[in-house]
Amino acid sequence: MRRQILVSFFAASAVLVSGQGFSGDWDAAYGKAQTALSKLSQTDKIAIVTGVGWGKGPCSGNSGAANSIGYRTLCLQDGPLGVRTVSSITVFPAGVHAASTWDRALMRDRGHGIGSQTKALGINVILGPVAGPLGQFAQGGRNWEGFGNDPYLCGVATEQTIGGIQEAGAQACVKHYIGNEQEKNRHDMNSVIDDRTLHELYLWPFAEAVRANVASVMCSYNKISGTWVCENGRMMDDILKKELGFKGYVVTDWDAQHSTAASANTGLDMTMPGSDYNGNTYYWGNKLQSAVQSGQVASSRLDDMVKRILASWYLLKQDSNYPNIAIDHRSNNGGPNVQGNNATIARAVARDGIVLLKNSDNVLPLQKPKSIAIIGSGAVANPKGINSCQDNGCNQGTLVMGWGSGTATLPYLSAPADAITSRAKQDGTSVTTAATDTANQGASAAQNADVAIVFITADGGEEYITVEGNEGDRNDLNAWHNGADLVKAVANVNKNTIVVVNTVGPVLLESFADLPNVKAIVWAGLPGQEAGNALVDIIYGATSPSGKLPYSIAKAAKDYGTTIQAMTDNFSEGLYIDYRYMDKNSISPRYEFGFGLSYSTFNYSSISISGTPTSGPESGPTVPGGAASLFEVVATVTATITNSGSVTAAEVAQLYLGLPSSAPATPVRQLRGFDKVSIKAGESATVKFELRRRDLSYWDSSAKKWVLPKGTFTIDVGASSRDLRLSGKLEAS
Ligand SMILES: *[C@@H]1O[C@H](CO)[C@@H](O)[C@H](O)[C@H]1NC(C)=O
Ligand SMILES: *[C@@H]1O[C@H](CO)[C@@H](O)[C@H](O)[C@H]1NC(C)=O
Ligand SMILES: *[C@@H]1O[C@H](CO)[C@@H](O)[C@H](O)[C@H]1NC(C)=O
Repeated sequence: MRRQILVSFFAASAVLVSGQGFSGDWDAAYGKAQTALSKLSQTDKIAIVTGVGWGKGPCSGNSGAANSIGYRTLCLQDGPLGVRTVSSITVFPAGVHAASTWDRALMRDRGHGIGSQTKALGINVILGPVAGPLGQFAQGGRNWEGFGNDPYLCGVATEQTIGGIQEAGAQACVKHYIGNEQEKNRHDMNSVIDDRTLHELYLWPFAEAVRANVASVMCSYNKISGTWVCENGRMMDDILKKELGFKGYVVTDWDAQHSTAASANTGLDMTMPGSDYNGNTYYWGNKLQSAVQSGQVASSRLDDMVKRILASWYLLKQDSNYPNIAIDHRSNNGGPNVQGNNATIARAVARDGIVLLKNSDNVLPLQKPKSIAIIGSGAVANPKGINSCQDNGCNQGTLVMGWGSGTATLPYLSAPADAITSRAKQDGTSVTTAATDTANQGASAAQNADVAIVFITADGGEEYITVEGNEGDRNDLNAWHNGADLVKAVANVNKNTIVVVNTVGPVLLESFADLPNVKAIVWAGLPGQEAGNALVDIIYGATSPSGKLPYSIAKAAKDYGTTIQAMTDNFSEGLYIDYRYMDKNSISPRYEFGFGLSYSTFNYSSISISGTPTSGPESGPTVPGGAASLFEVVATVTATITNSGSVTAAEVAQLYLGLPSSAPATPVRQLRGFDKVSIKAGESATVKFELRRRDLSYWDSSAKKWVLPKGTFTIDVGASSRDLRLSGKLEAS
């Protein structure tokens, strides 16, 4: 099905699907930008780099126009799962749900869907994808907007999403760069990250974004080592532009600017929305003009900003026949219908991102039960209306996204109770729905049913909205609304209890995961508008589940080893977050990173490892062009996966790497490859992993280089980070 979607909808661009990122021609784009520059007045240049002010244009962000080159106001709009504040778009599954598909093609399709709707609405720049927060904290409020807390998986998802968005003609804006790992005090937070941790975890997906030719990068609210990121020369100039070779422009997060000359001189290229939210305070516009006149900011720096912005515009060919802006952010929810058939993509991502965690006695897929009781407020649409809470700032009804600026307006919602009820008719199953979170009510609804399906949730979001006492970050890792009590009460009376969890991240399951009557746990993530249909696809077995966890589900909150910080975050755990921490400290999670069950079984065999990497520091050019040799494939691993069960199913084979003893202390194993293959019962497929030089290297902070260590690497291939089926060695001379 995945491949069919690609072929039928994207036949024209199919060749790019297996490609890496977006294949744009920066040299040609810079040539055009250089020519355009000579036609611009100083006023034009200032207008191009400055937002017009909050609330003064149709988009979340709008720059000034430059008529002499046919450059109209640039329109920047949220957000990462669909176009915000427009009524007839597609609400795709959230980033974290796309990550749990582990499916490059679906990630790209989702990006393409978002990008094509962005373009159809005349919006130039979509403010996504999210590569930070990465997920230092399990409770982090905005983790769900991104792609899970492993840099490799997040990097692949970032690259594919950018590829899809930009192939559709819109500019992607990867955010939030960098070290913005929590919502608490995000405007003042000081993140102090050692250079190795920075490179190997938090910078990694941004490096993939640059390699994918992303048009823009958003600098975040926080400070790094005492300096705001949006005026931090080390982060913007030295690392992003020089070391990584970023050719597009850096734009502020909204109102994240604190200075005129300092931000200009350290690498900021565009300020948004151009003023604070009162419209009183601003730093560029005529203030930047004065700073250039007085020599505080070199005119060559202003020209560089303009060239970067124009080059990105030319790179995406937005200079010719780009649609007119068809939205108005301020009037909230107008706009033409641009849905097309994107719901098909949304459903495929929602379906394949569902992770089956437990399935005793093969209770799933459902086999024509006589009766089903559906229980929990999360089973039905919010009775007050699917869009009744501003920016989704509530947890009522089916949870399909978190809250904040990363949300979008649902055109409709396929609610689980409706979708199950409709499907159940085919089997003559009687269905009752008790949309209650009260334990005894849930139990009485469940007690005479063949099967009880209980819906529980956990929500999180952006700090400007507080939901049920959670100020963005989650207060704890428990299910909301006493979800665990509801499950226990139902399981007490029903021996076929199926738990469905819609959540922004990990939820502690200890109080019920081992109960014998809890036969199945279905991790339904944040599925977007197609929630119910996707769930039915899985629980009725039209498709075997194939999602895998993009984070670990621990037995206790302390098992993550990190907690939300006050005003300074020293990142003292270094490389050891999530499974890296649990592996190091021999902590068993309930369900490990990469885990997920299928309706079939898979046998792994015939690992083959080839390649003769040479040790030593990265030696290729680092600027310009972004260290090409770092991304050269230096080893290839293949394995055979056999579907040893009785139904067609997809498996995500994962490669974990351990560095030789000559390397400094490093996590025992780290994800460095994955491949998802759909296999018919009884048949086999080959999975392939390509290891790039950087995938085998560590960051040497004193040499300021990636170094590929000498000696023996261990390579494990398996079905999760702890279900390792095959292993082998690779020698670096
Ligand atoms: C998604 O929507 C865009 C904008 O309307 C449209 O161009 C594109 O064809 C749609 N994709 C699919 C698969 O329908
Ligand atoms: C962070 O590190 C600094 C410098 O070592 C130290 O003074 C401070 O107490 C640390 N903060 C926290 C919250 O650990
Ligand atoms: C599974 O693979 C192993 C080799 O890894 C092989 O010995 C075994 O026969 C296979 N089992 C099945 C059921 O294919």
